[in-house]
Amino acid sequence: PPLYIITPTYKRPEQLAEITRLSHTLMLVPNLTWLVIEDAYETNDLIEDVLRKSGIKYYYMVAPMPSEYKAKTKGPKPRGVSNRNKGLEWIRQNAKTGVFYFADDDNTYDLELFQEIRFTKKVSMFPVGLITKAGVSSPIVKNGVFSGFYDGWIGGRKFALDMAGFAVSVDFLLNRPQASMPFKPGFEEDGFLKSLAPFEPKEAELLAANCTKILVWHTQTKKNEPSLSLDMSKYNNSNLVMLKK
Ligand code: UGA
Ligand code: MN
Repeated sequence: PPLYIITPTYKRPEQLAEITRLSHTLMLVPNLTWLVIEDAYETNDLIEDVLRKSGIKYYYMVAPMPSEYKAKTKGPKPRGVSNRNKGLEWIRQNAKTGVFYFADDDNTYDLELFQEIRFTKKVSMFPVGLITKAGVSSPIVKNGVFSGFYDGWIGGRKFALDMAGFAVSVDFLLNRPQASMPFKPGFEEDGFLKSLAPFEPKEAELLAANCTKILVWHTQTKKNEPSLSLDMSKYNNSNLVMLKK
């Protein structure tokens, strides 16, 4: 079955490095379509070059965060939500079968993950490493049966999962025309999975050897000076001067 990867991304000094690294992972995955959706009003040629160079079948789109959220000065923002909803819309219009997965641009993915999620019938779930003080976010499995969620922050959620911790069948989504992700910081995963009702956590397919293996890590890249440009054309090369030791 075809695999659709929905990746939200946004402009910052690390972006080219993140997209380059993720492209190198996804290049190794067969029968994959990469939906790269930028939180911006226009696409970025430097990103497009990386996507083209990868040889991966991709669609590069934009979906800006609504200005009411972007302008917020305090509290968390609904990061990547416009982007992911745009990806869902693309799937509704273009996909017929297969499986989709929300893959943030900065996480680290084991290739085995893609082999496992490809056969998702409804919704599959699995552990995510390097997340919160708890170290891992995962469904709890007892005697092969789902028995709750382990996460550094349960927050009263029905689905206490990270964005990287589940995959969904395209058919399952197409049968739920109302499903979407809410602009609710902290509750994006929970809200989206609830919007797939009727669906209960105990119906989830438990992957990664009954959730005993970590196949995806919530890695985070150190932030660089925000004004830094990694676009070499922004520097006049002949004006570069050697810094003293
Ligand atoms: C945390 C969770 O661990 C993620 O699973 C969840 O997707 C994310 O929050 C979220 O808020 O949605 P974290 O590492 O803190 O992850 O978030 P980022 O990696 O900074 O952002 C998540 C995704 O949204 C990334 O792919 C990023 O490129 C994108 N993003 C971020 C935007 O499109 N716009 C932004 O302003 C910020
Ligand atoms: Mn991240």
